Amino acid sequence: MSDSIFEFGMIGLGVMGRNLLLNMADHGFAVIGFDKDATKNAALESSATPGTTVKGVGELSQMIQLLQRPRKVMMLVPAGQPVDDVITSLLPLLEEGDVIIDGGNSHYTDTLRRVKALREKNIHFMGIGVSGGEKGARTGPSIMPGGDQIAYGHVQPMLEAIAAKVGDEPCVAYLGKEGAGHYVKMVHNGIEYAIMQLISESYAILKHGGLNNQQMHEVFAKWNNEKLQSFLVEITAEIFLQKDDKGTGDLVDVISDKAGSKGTGKWTSQDSMELPVAVPVIDTAVAMRTLSGYKDERVQAAEIYGEPAGNESLPSEELIALVYDALYFATILSYAQGLAMLFQASKDLNMDIPLPEVVSVWRGGCIIRSSLLETFTTAYRQNPELSNILLNQEVASLVKSAEDKTRSLIAFAAKSGIPIAGLMSSLAYFDAYKSASMPTNLIQAQRDYFGAHTYQRIDTPGTFHTEWGQQ
Ligand code: 6PG
Repeated sequence: MSDSIFEFGMIGLGVMGRNLLLNMADHGFAVIGFDKDATKNAALESSATPGTTVKGVGELSQMIQLLQRPRKVMMLVPAGQPVDDVITSLLPLLEEGDVIIDGGNSHYTDTLRRVKALREKNIHFMGIGVSGGEKGARTGPSIMPGGDQIAYGHVQPMLEAIAAKVGDEPCVAYLGKEGAGHYVKMVHNGIEYAIMQLISESYAILKHGGLNNQQMHEVFAKWNNEKLQSFLVEITAEIFLQKDDKGTGDLVDVISDKAGSKGTGKWTSQDSMELPVAVPVIDTAVAMRTLSGYKDERVQAAEIYGEPAGNESLPSEELIALVYDALYFATILSYAQGLAMLFQASKDLNMDIPLPEVVSVWRGGCIIRSSLLETFTTAYRQNPELSNILLNQEVASLVKSAEDKTRSLIAFAAKSGIPIAGLMSSLAYFDAYKSASMPTNLIQAQRDYFGAHTYQRIDTPGTFHTEWGQQ
């Protein structure tokens, strides 16, 4: 009998890698993991559910030898050179038709390069976005695979088994060619940044309105049972209850306001400029994380500028109602901008990304999962070529229902001096997007005045230049 009994291999047995393998084993697959750290191999085996087929080995060649053909080998290692190093170590051991999967947050251009290089050797390379963190990996992530359809066919049964489920639908689907999987994950993270920024701004406004952490918990917990239902709102409600185990108060109050980031949101913003597609809420979210790092300057500036003169205030219940609609409005705009970027990128970069499948797999398991995604899934299934969900009538009615309170809230926060760059940029994008006429004709005149960059007219075709100042 062949020794090759294992159906799936994992390189890198950190918590994510271990949890994905254990998830597969719990669904009946024979899995094998490799890590240079022997304790991680032991931890994999000791964590396995009794009766499942799980093995951890310290030699990569041993893992490859024990895998059924075509071999399916996934890596969960830091993006960049470590991925190329793993590929280099794998190549002498693999055979034509085998599949290498990068499940980390790699940049899609690196994935594209790897797909093309390995295609020359008849090795399939897939970039797969995995969202949901360590818990999601163990119990059901959202999975965003890209690459060639043959490779996807080899791994589809396992991915469908371990993915989060919405009804009986797995939160995984083939999301397009070559770097598409990592591209979709990148945009997922861009939307994640945007929604996290909007929630933090909502927190700032409610805090300005005098709510304590217990009251914040109650507000977000209530919202999570209504139209703002989402994973991020759910965990935010829980965060306000967490006590500081090093002190006597609430943990959130003693956490530094200097936000970190591994960079995936920044990539989204950078690539949006390349396409180009406007994603100002994502851009703003990245910028606000950067600005949060200027702590010393912000303390100095606070001394110099102080607070606005007028001390705006509203009854708590009224303020909460305004924030509720503004957060809902801006959250929809964040998804709209990210999805419009995917629509454009799919065409420009020839990735054939199916937007109905993207929003469908985001309904469960991932960080940006929310009840809104059910609406978006219906919208894209009705029209897969929708360039922007704001053009869908059902979405438009949801946006319109929250518009008035959004405008009132933004006016209140602006007069109160509360920084709400994300909320403001979502409204500014909305007002520009729905403007049949924009004031950018003046920019064209300015460009032609100082740079002779020419302009078009609204009343006749052609390209024009004017010697400005000469009547
Ligand atoms: C997910 C997350 C995850 C991401 C972390 C860190 O989908 O599970 O997006 O992939 O790496 O959230 O993100 P930042 O450090 O960039 O905030």
